Amino acid sequence: MEDWIGAVAIVTGASSGIGEAIAIELVKKGLKVVGLARRIDRLNNLKEHLENELGEFYPIKCDMTKEEEILAAFEWIKNTLGSIALLVNNAGYGKYTTLSEGTTSDWKSIFDVNVMGLCIATREAIKNMTENNTAGLIVHMNSIFGHLVPTTCAETENVYIASKYCVTALAETLRLELAKSKAPIRVSSISPGIVDTGLIAAGGFTDDHLTELYNRVPPLKPVDIANAVLYILSTPRNVNVTELTIRPAGEIL
Ligand SMILES: NC(=O)c1ccc[n+]([C@@H]2O[C@H](COP(=O)([O-])OP(=O)(O)OC[C@H]3O[C@@H](n4cnc5c(N)ncnc54)[C@H](OP(=O)(O)O)[C@@H]3O)[C@@H](O)[C@H]2O)c1
Repeated sequence: MEDWIGAVAIVTGASSGIGEAIAIELVKKGLKVVGLARRIDRLNNLKEHLENELGEFYPIKCDMTKEEEILAAFEWIKNTLGSIALLVNNAGYGKYTTLSEGTTSDWKSIFDVNVMGLCIATREAIKNMTENNTAGLIVHMNSIFGHLVPTTCAETENVYIASKYCVTALAETLRLELAKSKAPIRVSSISPGIVDTGLIAAGGFTDDHLTELYNRVPPLKPVDIANAVLYILSTPRNVNVTELTIRPAGEIL
């Protein structure tokens, strides 16, 4: 991990849940972490909270559905911090919707964050890494739903599940693209099962649903996923962890 001290990392969706935990652990390990999200107040509080740690935290307000905001964030990073070593594409959004009655705008908003935002940030990170000849790492926050369609909630998580299947494909196609062009950039996908964050509630699940879900199996904590990122970072440069699936013990999905 010493190699990563002072390296520049970007974590999208750093204002809560898994992204916040990843940002905290990376700053503790000495990285310069740029956190992107819309809730700048939460990012600013996180900066204060991390003031005495080894690394630094830089909050940037950025809506991942707005390309101009993503480009501006990368431009700031290029001019202020220089070369990017790590991008964690973590920002994600889900919405309780059906395919027979859901709205086009709900479906688009899921794809805009989970797929298009991820693609744009990835492209910009690769540009920066290539310009600086950096042996970088790109981590996509995928989901167990990127690998299976759960019978329990297929009828309401449809487009979210589809977006995560896209992430599975995008991680693998990017890995092959970079390997064929001999770019020294590694790509990893992390696919968590249920994690105790605000994502499920934000997607429209009722408290009853949540209680039932959590009572069935205690969910993972965000730090469990942050530790998976640290594991990937701890591997030598000849090792590419392509996929890590992490479930709460006992999860039935
Ligand atoms: N929780 C789970 O059970 C679980 C399981 C598997 C995978 N995941 C994945 O883990 C990732 C993180 O989710 P979480 O569980 O930690 O949920 P969360 O606490 O709701 O965090 C989501 C993060 O994404 C950001 N985000 C959402 N829309 C955004 C937008 N338009 N622009 C910029 N940032 C945006 C949010 O920031 P702002 O609202 O401040 O913009 C927030 O920081 C997601 O990709 C999710 O799909 C979660």
